[in-house]
Amino acid sequence: MKSARDIGNIKGKFVFVRADFNVPLVDGFIGNDFRIRKTLPTIDFLLGKGAKLVIGSHIGEEKTSLRPVCEYLESKYSVSFVENYYPSAPEVLKNSKSDIFLLENLRKYSEEKSNDEKFSKHIASFADFYVNEAFPASHRSHASIIGIPRYIPSFAGFVFEEEIENLSKAFHPDHPFLFILGGAKFETKMPLVKKFFSLADEVFIGGALANDFFRAKGLDTGSSLLSEEKLPMEDFLNKKLILPIDLVVKNGEMVSIKQSEDVRDGDVIADVGVKSIENLNSNISKSKFILWNGPLGNYENGFKKATFSLAKKIAKSSAKSIVGGGDTVASIASLGIEREFTFVSTGGGAMLDFLANETLPGIEALNNGK
Ligand code: 3PG
Repeated sequence: MKSARDIGNIKGKFVFVRADFNVPLVDGFIGNDFRIRKTLPTIDFLLGKGAKLVIGSHIGEEKTSLRPVCEYLESKYSVSFVENYYPSAPEVLKNSKSDIFLLENLRKYSEEKSNDEKFSKHIASFADFYVNEAFPASHRSHASIIGIPRYIPSFAGFVFEEEIENLSKAFHPDHPFLFILGGAKFETKMPLVKKFFSLADEVFIGGALANDFFRAKGLDTGSSLLSEEKLPMEDFLNKKLILPIDLVVKNGEMVSIKQSEDVRDGDVIADVGVKSIENLNSNISKSKFILWNGPLGNYENGFKKATFSLAKKIAKSSAKSIVGGGDTVASIASLGIEREFTFVSTGGGAMLDFLANETLPGIEALNNGK
C-alpha cells in the first residue's frame, strides 16, 4: 500500500479523495464533525502540493445531500459543489478556479453500491491520482472504494494509515487486555467475539449483545432485543466473560433498575446499571490495554448514561485505549475527552471488520491497485 506522503509531484494535477463525510445531521446541520476534521490534514497536504481535489463521499443513503458538508468546507476552502456527474462529466471541473470539487452523495447513483465498472472508470477519469481517506467505508466493496483504484495510481490517506497502525495493536496487545463490546446484531459480530475471547484476558459485553448471553445462561430477557437465531455460545460462557449485574429496564412507561436475574415478561433491557460500571472500574484499573466498540445501552433512544460513564472511566485510566463506533465516538465527543484516549477510530462497522479479518476490501484494493 502506497502512502499519500509519497504521491510525488502533483502540482496542477487532479486528485480524487474518497472521504467519509457520512456524518450525523441534526435539522440539516452537522451534528458531529469528527470525521471531517480528521480528513483536513490530508486535504491540506494535497492542496499544499499544488493539486486540485475532487472529493467523493457517501452520506446516509441515496437521498441525503452533502450540501451541509460543502458549507462546512467553504468556511476554509474555495469549493464547488458538483450535483450531477454521471453519466456525463461535469464541465465545472475544467472551468472553475476552485481548489476543491465536492461531488454530491456518491450513493445517489446505484452504480456506486453495485461497484459498476463503467461508473468507476468514469469517476477515475476526473483525476490523475486516487487517495483513500475513507477508512470507515472501506469494508464496503463499492465503486469508489475498490473500483477506482484499478484505473489510476492509488494511495492511502493519513488517517487510513493511522487506523491500520493503531487498530493492529489489538492483534499483539499488552496484558492484561480488557475487551469491551456493546451494540446489537450479535450474528454479525460472532467472528470478532471468537477472535477476541482468545486474545483478551477479560471480555465485558453490554448493549443488546448482552441479551444473547443472558439467554444462553438461561436467564429471562423479557421482551428485550435478541438475535433471531440462537447462536452457539457455549465457548464464551467462561471465566473471561463479564456481564452486567444490574440493568436499566423499561416496562411500558416505567423505567427501573433490576438485577439481571430479575428481568421478567414485558421488561425491555435499555441500559447497563450503575453498579455494573462501578464494578468494572477494578478491571479497567488493572488493564494495560483496553479495546472498546459499541454503546452499552439503547443510545439512540436516550439510554446513554452507562456509555458516558464507561467513557469517563476509560479516559481516566492509564491503559492504552482504542475505541470506536458511531455512538461510542459521539459520546466521547460530547464529553470533550477525545484526547484522553490512545486512539479514537473513525470507523464503526469497518473497525469491527478490520479487527475480525485483519484486512478490508479497501486495503486490498490499494494493495492490488495501480
Ligand atoms: C459508517 O458510518 O460506518 C460508514 O460511513 C459506512 O456507512 P454504511 O454503513 O452506510 O456503509
